[in-house]
Amino acid sequence: MNTIMKEMIDIAKEAGIRIKNDRDFSVSEKTDAANIVTTMDTQIQNFILGRLEQLLPEAKVIAEEDNVHSFDNGYVWIVDPIDGTTNYAYDCKHSCISIALLNENDGYIGVVYNPYLDELFYAKKGEGSFLNGKPLNVTDCSMNESLVIMGTAPYRKDKADYTFEIAKRLFVNGRDIRRSGSAVLDLCYVACGRYDAFFEADLAVWDRAAAALIISEAGGIVEAIEPDVWNYERSIGVIAGNKNNIKDLKALVKP
Ligand code: IPD
Ligand code: CA
Ligand code: CA
Repeated sequence: MNTIMKEMIDIAKEAGIRIKNDRDFSVSEKTDAANIVTTMDTQIQNFILGRLEQLLPEAKVIAEEDNVHSFDNGYVWIVDPIDGTTNYAYDCKHSCISIALLNENDGYIGVVYNPYLDELFYAKKGEGSFLNGKPLNVTDCSMNESLVIMGTAPYRKDKADYTFEIAKRLFVNGRDIRRSGSAVLDLCYVACGRYDAFFEADLAVWDRAAAALIISEAGGIVEAIEPDVWNYERSIGVIAGNKNNIKDLKALVKP
């Protein structure tokens, strides 16, 4: 295994074990009651960025907390220190650490660690994706057989009408829908076949950089919802699925 990837895995695991074992934190609102942050998010981000900086000093960094955002066409780290912060604050035990390395504006390595189940998802461009060492494949379900995991875009309540109109369509035209509170794990669960499709009206780059590579290396398809195009510099709506359901999914999420 590539040394950078090994180190990313060590960092994600160390960070994950910390969030699992340490519940000594305070909570504050970022913008409103729907958008909270804990002191642990910031501590974990500082820990991760400190270690990543030693690993590849020339790389730029995009990370969720404290507006860390510097991007170019070379190496870029994209970090979500805790994906599923609200789950973490409520002790729901469904959160993860997400670290991606981009190169030339494309996913190169993605590492996601869920400490509660000791599950490590990872992928390197062109080399497949894995869960605890086992190769991953998306399912091949058609849309009507698809179990859809969706996010509510909780920090974009202006998109609520659209989100819940699409939720109804996905519910009616698929097997059923689910909502977990961690977009990163939702996407990883599509990669390993626990769900067949994903939808969220607005996802930041740190919610999807690592997991998008993990899905595509598992044979899945992950795309921006039109009229957006896939990019690593701003939020976009996202769908994910497989070659048999993506066309119908795309049609269903049309505003
Ligand atoms: C959020 C979670 C949630 C998703 C939001 C994300 P955070 O990330 O992934 O499931 O619906 O869009 O922002 O704030 O917990 O890191
Ligand atoms: Ca997140
Ligand atoms: Ca987060």
